[in-house]
Amino acid sequence: MSDSIVSLGIIGCGVGARNVHLPALARVPRLRVAALCDSSEAALASALLGASARRLADWRQLLGAPDLDALAVLTPPDTHAELGCAVLASGKHLFLDKPLAASAADGERLVAAARSSRGKAFLGHNYRWHRLVEQGRSFVRSGALGALRAIRSVYTHHHRGPGVQPWHRLRSRGGGVLLNDGVHHFDMWRFLLDREIEELKLHSADTEEFQDQTCTVSARLSGGVLGSAIFSFGSGAESVVEIFGDEGRLELSLYQFDGLRFVPAVAPPGGFGVRARAAAASLRSLPVAVRGLRGQGDVATAAVDMWRSFADCVLRDLPPPCTLLDGRQAMRALFDALS
Ligand SMILES: NC(=O)c1ccc[n+]([C@@H]2O[C@H](COP(=O)([O-])OP(=O)(O)OC[C@H]3O[C@@H](n4cnc5c(N)ncnc54)[C@H](O)[C@@H]3O)[C@@H](O)[C@H]2O)c1
Repeated sequence: MSDSIVSLGIIGCGVGARNVHLPALARVPRLRVAALCDSSEAALASALLGASARRLADWRQLLGAPDLDALAVLTPPDTHAELGCAVLASGKHLFLDKPLAASAADGERLVAAARSSRGKAFLGHNYRWHRLVEQGRSFVRSGALGALRAIRSVYTHHHRGPGVQPWHRLRSRGGGVLLNDGVHHFDMWRFLLDREIEELKLHSADTEEFQDQTCTVSARLSGGVLGSAIFSFGSGAESVVEIFGDEGRLELSLYQFDGLRFVPAVAPPGGFGVRARAAAASLRSLPVAVRGLRGQGDVATAAVDMWRSFADCVLRDLPPPCTLLDGRQAMRALFDALS
């Protein structure tokens, strides 16, 4: 391996690779995409970034490739255990996209394989690198919210029609809004609060198109914190987390450049002070809004920062900030509730 550049092979060139990872990788010179692999010819052909990379259909050919330092597994969740364990057994470094796996047993296989591998095992919960999540975490850690009482998430999309990948429709493949999407917020709950999710109770509604099209969640976290969530493939794009403490409420609206707002317990939410602080914060965040107009908003930038962190882990021999164990902890109570 070069001292300054990681040579990377990508397995899975679908929607996530094309829309999230390859554009982010193009902004991280320390990571060079040397190989692209997909069992679908059409997916391989549509991966326009990484033009100089060689293209293959069989991922097994990448395991022993001497020019590759690391492999990224960006395939559907029900394939993560087979591919991820093989990468870890090969000794190459692994970047595994979220969610960890489509079943608890697959997740355990991956965690065990990471323990005995000499490669790094990095899990891609990209929201951890989101600017507002980082700021929200620091705010919680400062103690300004007082005793933490509850957390609430709303995460919705506009997913429908024939363009949706078939695995997204089936819980057994890691699809549905709960396993593939809700897990982003379960990981954020852990990350923001430094608490574990101990128990979840779920209600889920299917449609003709999707299993788990809409879900509601009621949760108990460690330290007596309670949680609730609505996840849905309907009603449009929204990703919001609210944290409730004795001293006030912190709102993170992750698709808004000025989406971080603290409402102190003693202040009326519509009062002048709260509104004036929100207006000042919006003005200060205008450069972020401008970056967003150029396609480099917070979600895209979080992906870039995540890949920079992966490069640091490999090149500077650092422990991954998000591990397969984190992936298991984000899903453990969920799998218990589904079993
Ligand atoms: N972090 C994010 O923001 C983000 C965004 C999108 C997707 N994802 C994650 O990325 C993963 C893939 O999701 P997607 O939406 O890209 O799915 P997708 O179906 O669009 O793409 C998956 C690709 O993997 C290929 N593939 C499947 N099995 C393969 C194998 N054995 N060998 C080679 N290629 C194989 C498929 O042909 C397909 O092109 C999921 O875990 C999903 O949760 C993460």
